[in-house]
Amino acid sequence: MTRGTAPGAGGPESVADLRPLRVDDAALVAEATQFNVNWTGEERVTPADIASDPALAHYTALRPDRGDFGVVAELGGCPVGVVWLLFLDAADPGYGYVADGVPELSVCVWPGYRGRGLGTRLVEAALAAARDRGLERVSLSVEAGNPARRLYADMGFVDAEGATSETMVIRLLK
Ligand SMILES: CC(C)(COP(=O)(O)OP(=O)(O)OC[C@H]1O[C@@H](n2cnc3c(N)ncnc32)[C@H](O)[C@@H]1OP(=O)(O)O)[C@@H](O)C(=O)NCCC(=O)NCCS
Repeated sequence: MTRGTAPGAGGPESVADLRPLRVDDAALVAEATQFNVNWTGEERVTPADIASDPALAHYTALRPDRGDFGVVAELGGCPVGVVWLLFLDAADPGYGYVADGVPELSVCVWPGYRGRGLGTRLVEAALAAARDRGLERVSLSVEAGNPARRLYADMGFVDAEGATSETMVIRLLK
């Protein structure tokens, strides 16, 4: 979708191409889900665990029919990051569920490309797309101690009232 051209730019945050996430990106989202659960560096889950655990497997299926969408960052045609928003509902809630109709955001940047602004750019792109769709809120789940919490707070996410301490929500300005 875009290619950064700012003077002096050159890191992955500025030169990565952004494109919409597609239904056939399931393997990419499954790998991202594994990175996210294993964010501490410990191998808490394997790909097989993610496929067999319904509480994780539902993060790996993009369903545009219910409004799901996302953005992939690519360098030279290779995915290096992804953000995706799923409308998991009360019948099958995600860890960051707050209400039906409020999508839950997940984001992952591949090791080697982190800490250079790409995650910020992906979340900004996702929130812009959410606003374009007329969405009022977006939620997410982040474990205590994950430095990603700071990224989310900087973007305007706050702790969700009445939800677990790991749930954050942003109200989108119109
Ligand atoms: C979280 C993640 C998507 C952020 O992407 P990124 O490209 O590294 O993020 P950015 O470079 O835009 O950093 C934005 C802010 O995030 C915070 N941050 C995120 N991850 C961090 C880390 N590992 N160490 C330190 N700060 C981190 C920092 O506050 C940073 O701002 P700063 O550079 O001004 O200090 C990426 O680090 C990642 O995939 N991590 C592993 C999986 C994970 O934790 N996913 C989120 C699950 S809720």
